[in-house]
Amino acid sequence: MTVLARAPGRVNLIGEHTDYTGGLVLPMAIDRATTVEGERRGQVVRLRSLDEPVEVVIALDVDDPSIVEPPWGRYVAGVVKEMGTSQAPRGTGFVGTVTTTVPIGAGLSSSAALEVAVALALGFEGTALELAQLCQRAEQRASGVPCGIMDQLSSAAGVAGHLTLIDCHSLTVEPVALPTDVEVVVVHGHHRTLVGSPYADRVADCAMAEAQIGPLRLATVADTGTISDPTVRARARHVVSENERVRRFVDAIRADDLETSGQLMAASHRSMRDDYEITTAIIDDLVERLARLPGVFGVRMTGGGFGGCVVALSRPGAISEGWVMRPSAGARVVTNS
Ligand code: GLA
Repeated sequence: MTVLARAPGRVNLIGEHTDYTGGLVLPMAIDRATTVEGERRGQVVRLRSLDEPVEVVIALDVDDPSIVEPPWGRYVAGVVKEMGTSQAPRGTGFVGTVTTTVPIGAGLSSSAALEVAVALALGFEGTALELAQLCQRAEQRASGVPCGIMDQLSSAAGVAGHLTLIDCHSLTVEPVALPTDVEVVVVHGHHRTLVGSPYADRVADCAMAEAQIGPLRLATVADTGTISDPTVRARARHVVSENERVRRFVDAIRADDLETSGQLMAASHRSMRDDYEITTAIIDDLVERLARLPGVFGVRMTGGGFGGCVVALSRPGAISEGWVMRPSAGARVVTNS
């Protein structure tokens, strides 16, 4: 029996570092995807990747995904582990090949695409949300990074032509049509990995803020002003104002008001730079340079930060570098015969 499963990467338009406090995010699944093709047989999961020199062999009863070698196998092992604990026992392995068109380490969720494609290839059964939750746990096990749900849910639940508005508290997903007269352009800044980045420190800062003023998703910017520690106060101000920017961005996009949408992206970048301190000098310079081009509505860093990519909303053809990304359908099993 040959199985072919495909899962897209994602780019986040706005709503950064808001998912792990139950806030709002607005990513889209992109037309770059990871494909896992092979057969369900044997007693291990054996995958080779066209982009990696060493193949991955994972025992079905793998204990600790975070120490698997080679490192790309940790995401596969995380999924195998989670499939073993939350899906009906299957007892069969998988032998196959991984290919991807998602740029790796660029902040476009290459790891989420791999996890979601592997889970589907191994025979995951359940809803898009359950698939995303399983893969989020797999990512946390593999990397040790306490990531939110955005990347995996964006990959699992994308709708062609639409952005994916996710309420990370209620876990509801609402597709928002992207106007057809704009382009989403992604330009690579520099390589990064969230493993070893201060991502976990930001998660801890938010927990400290919530200990003082309650859930950030319910707080106002005025509430954050009462936080005593200036760093924690700034982190909370980013999260609360970013949730508000997502709401206003969705309204603006629905009204085809691209000027306002772009201004909100610029404000999001400033907030990530000054309050959340997750941008880098190279990324800030890139954002400023692209924002000056005629026909560009807004530019911001996208993804976990500390490097990676920037995303721009622009008139078609306004930016002559990077990748034009089209909002695409979510993950699926393409063939199972
Ligand atoms: C990474 C995480 C996501 C999210 C973003 C920041 O991509 O995996 O859960 O927190 O960073 O918005």
